[in-house]
Amino acid sequence: MDLSPLVATSLESSVGNSAGIMAPGMLPGKSHGTCGRDSSTSRKKTRHFSLGCGRSSLGLYATGTSIYSMEMVVDTNMKLYTPGPVHVAPDTLAVMSKHCDTHRSSWYSDMHEHCENLLQELMFTENQILLGAFTGTGFMEACVTNLLGKDDTGLFVSVGAFGKRWTSIARGHGKEFDILEFEMGKAAKADKIKEILERKEYATVFIQFNETSTGIRNPLEEIAPVVKDSGALLCVDAVSGLGGMKLEVDELGIDVCLASTQKCLAVPPGIALCSISEHALEKSKTVGNRGYYLDFMVLMKKAPKHQTPTTIAVPLVRALEYKLGKIIEEGVEQVFDRHSKMAEMTWKWANDAGFEIFPEEGHRSSTVSTIANNRNIDVAKFVKVLLDKGYRIVNGYGDLKGKTFRIGHMGDLQPDDMEELFGVMDETLVEI
Ligand SMILES: Cc1ncc(COP(=O)(O)O)c(C=O)c1O
Repeated sequence: MDLSPLVATSLESSVGNSAGIMAPGMLPGKSHGTCGRDSSTSRKKTRHFSLGCGRSSLGLYATGTSIYSMEMVVDTNMKLYTPGPVHVAPDTLAVMSKHCDTHRSSWYSDMHEHCENLLQELMFTENQILLGAFTGTGFMEACVTNLLGKDDTGLFVSVGAFGKRWTSIARGHGKEFDILEFEMGKAAKADKIKEILERKEYATVFIQFNETSTGIRNPLEEIAPVVKDSGALLCVDAVSGLGGMKLEVDELGIDVCLASTQKCLAVPPGIALCSISEHALEKSKTVGNRGYYLDFMVLMKKAPKHQTPTTIAVPLVRALEYKLGKIIEEGVEQVFDRHSKMAEMTWKWANDAGFEIFPEEGHRSSTVSTIANNRNIDVAKFVKVLLDKGYRIVNGYGDLKGKTFRIGHMGDLQPDDMEELFGVMDETLVEI
């Protein structure tokens, strides 16, 4: 629940002459509840807000007509097993809360450059890295607007909801495209893509590395060579895979590989990143009507200074630098192994509990598991009861709602965290 309207009402009242009593630490006009819920017993007058950082003070809010008591509840025990945004560790939050210099300072440039280097290591690339104060969809849109000219056709390879997002973006920009869709739960097949590419010329092929709605990991090691042979550029959405599964950008010849911070990197949402090849940059120069904010040429202007053309979310970049450092310190291979182990544990739990795994074998994601609801349980209730116990998993995405549920095992989660969840899920399945 967003607290803003409540605060605004109270402020208006206090300007108008009633007292507005602020809870300690609250800022006027700011929302202080991120996932609050109404108290079921006194819905109209008393609202409890979960803040995610420990039980804090009780505040009273007086308006002209009612008194709201706001118990600031911190869900230190709330554990997110989500496919993003994921749990952000207290040390990462602490890094974000430090004072920052501006995005035009050498202090910032050094930090940005360090992020570039760490991301190059994680992505196995020497390509230019770009950061932006938006989310992954921003770079998806940038790829469509920069890599498809007026005489070009794009090929969108879709294995789920995020694959279809390319088409919404392209329609919005009046771009020509074809879509090659694979059945939900199945991975994209290189031979089918090859067939299409042999029939028609495409400027750029767009695909997901990890389709978060179905839990499919596309076999890019088979698909990338086929795309490269055709002469098309290859744009990969690695939003829910980067940092959880190995993706060798240069080895595969990926021209743009994009991601966001709120998934395996375990940083709050708000920064998107991509690697971009010389070929993609050359192509962008030839495309008209690229806009401004997401124009690769504009984004590249400040690249030599390791800065962004517009103001970036500096505290988030600080958190990103910190988390990337942690990933490198753990060892990228170890991080990938940890994710793969958690995925295997999850599939075993699901099978033992009588569920099937929705995505086809051999192409399952290491970062999110989509579990088929072949037991026909009430998924919404299952999710809700788990939530009441302090564990958040999520329902199926879009058309798969109720038919599947998803368990994220990405970011900072450890095998022990998974064991803990399995125990609670077993107990809950008996109860519901
Ligand atoms: C595979 C995939 N692509 C794109 C997106 C959109 O990313 P963002 O929400 O960062 O814009 C998501 C978000 O969940 C995703 O999972």
